[in-house]
Amino acid sequence: MPSAVRRTALATLVTSLAALATATAALAGNGGFLPAEPHSPNAHRINDAFIFVGIFTGIIFLIVEGALIAFVIKYRRGKRPATAEGPQIHGATRLEIIWTVIPVLILAAIGAFVFYKLPGIANAPKAAAADETTISIEGHQFYWLFRYPNGAISIDRMVAPANEVVKEDVVGLDRDVNHSWWVPDLGGKFDAIPGRVNHTWFEAPVGDYVARCAELCGIQHALMDAVVQVVPRAQYDQFVSTRKSGAGTLNLGHEEWQGVCEKCHRLDHKYIGPALGGNPLLADRKGIETLLRNGQGQMPAVGYNWTGHQIDALIAYTKQFAKGGAG
Ligand code: CUA
Repeated sequence: MPSAVRRTALATLVTSLAALATATAALAGNGGFLPAEPHSPNAHRINDAFIFVGIFTGIIFLIVEGALIAFVIKYRRGKRPATAEGPQIHGATRLEIIWTVIPVLILAAIGAFVFYKLPGIANAPKAAAADETTISIEGHQFYWLFRYPNGAISIDRMVAPANEVVKEDVVGLDRDVNHSWWVPDLGGKFDAIPGRVNHTWFEAPVGDYVARCAELCGIQHALMDAVVQVVPRAQYDQFVSTRKSGAGTLNLGHEEWQGVCEKCHRLDHKYIGPALGGNPLLADRKGIETLLRNGQGQMPAVGYNWTGHQIDALIAYTKQFAKGGAG
């Protein structure tokens, strides 16, 4: 086979394999090359910056790798003796100026674009106080706890009003470890660092958005996810007022059981911790409070800052499991 034909065949093969490999990744939805589809103005801007930077880095990648492959083929040794010396070249002022100036211009363009986008990512848009809701988000081993302005609480499920600015206070508790609050559709990651409060926000249409803990925080880090349910304002108001009232107690208890206890326990068999079915502690208000507030052995103090109402809610739900094993 003449070498020109062989070269073309090889190049075609390499290109096709590369295309196949990247197509799989690109098709893999959110697991592909692109970030999740943004549903909040700050997330849009993060996406814009990603694409802007991606265009330059993509082009540079193709040029560098393409030149590398072309040079490897073009200047291969072939039949020349191993000791043959290549031409000795020194200095190419024009080239050197070009490869200095172009990267400087690219970096300046990227820097300018990112700084232009940054305020719209970091700062929530100005809104009338009536159109603003602040929800506090606490990272715990291994659950997310949400506190609403009226004092209502939910676990692993944040309910928020649609199409208005929702401010998020990401709280790290003194007695806990680092977590990272991340709702890919609604913006960037915000660390929950013990002793600190970080601030972010979103403004999203109605929908369910997946939230993740993005910081390795212990044995059940992988289960530390949540959902952000963005609902019409009236539905949000109803949720927080029901949750605050006695009518929401059992629901809160159920969420606590699922979000806190079940991360490590099952009723009928040992999981991370011992089986809980039939344990009289599940109906013992005082005993369970001591356990939640202080932890025990491997178990972290999952409820050390819980209100009395939260403990009542848990007992109201778990007392059914205190007798007779698996429920
Ligand atoms: Cu919390 Cu990982």
